[in-house]
Amino acid sequence: MLDNDIERVIYSRDQIQQRVKELGKQLTHDYAGNKNLVVVDVLTGASLFTIDLLEHMDVYCRMDFVDVSSYKGGTSSTGTVTLLHDLKNDIKGKDVLICEDIVDTGRTLKFLMDLLDGRGANSIKVCTMLDKPSGRLVDAKADYVGFNVPNEFLVGYGLDYDGYYRNLPYVGVLKPEVYEHHND
Ligand code: PRP
Ligand code: MN
Ligand code: MG
Repeated sequence: MLDNDIERVIYSRDQIQQRVKELGKQLTHDYAGNKNLVVVDVLTGASLFTIDLLEHMDVYCRMDFVDVSSYKGGTSSTGTVTLLHDLKNDIKGKDVLICEDIVDTGRTLKFLMDLLDGRGANSIKVCTMLDKPSGRLVDAKADYVGFNVPNEFLVGYGLDYDGYYRNLPYVGVLKPEVYEHHND
C-alpha cells in the first residue's frame, strides 16, 4: 500500500541495515571503555535508526530522547526549531552522541548542539543516517554519516511527509502526485 506512493527506492532495507551495522561497529570501537555516554534519539525521525544502531553498539551507554520539530510535516524547513520535549538526563559532564535520521539545512542539529553545549556536555558527537550537504544553510557537521544523499525530499526509515511513511523499511522518493493531492 505505502509502496504505491513511492517513485523510487534510494536505499533498500538491506543497504540500510548493512550500513547501520558498520556504524555500530565503528561507534563500539570509538566509545570502548567509556561509561559516560548518553545516546540522544532525536524524535521523531531518528527513532528507527537509533534503535537499530544501538543494537550494534556494544558499549555502556544511557539512552535519552529529545523532541524537536522544524518541518511540521511539510517538505521544507520552517526555519524555526521548536523544542517539544526535553531530555530526562542532566548531561553536564557527559559524552553525548546525537542520533539523527537526516541533516539537511543543519538548523535542527545546530539548535541541539548549542543547547547541549550550553549545558556543559563533556563532548558532543553526531551520528546521522543521511546527510544532505547541498541543503546546508547553517554550520553543522555530523561525525558519523550513513549515506550522503542528493537534494531530494526523501521519506521512509523515520523520515516523514505529513507524518506518514516513517514506517517504510527503506528510503525513497515520493511520487509527485502525492504532494499535488496534499490539500484534497
Ligand atoms: C527532520 C529530520 C531532522 C531535521 C533535519 O525533523 O528528522 O531532525 O528535520 O532538517 P534540518 O537539517 O533542515 O533541520 P522534523 O522537523 O521533520 O521533525 P520530525 O523528526 O518529527 O519529523
Ligand atoms: Mn527530526
Ligand atoms: Mg519531519
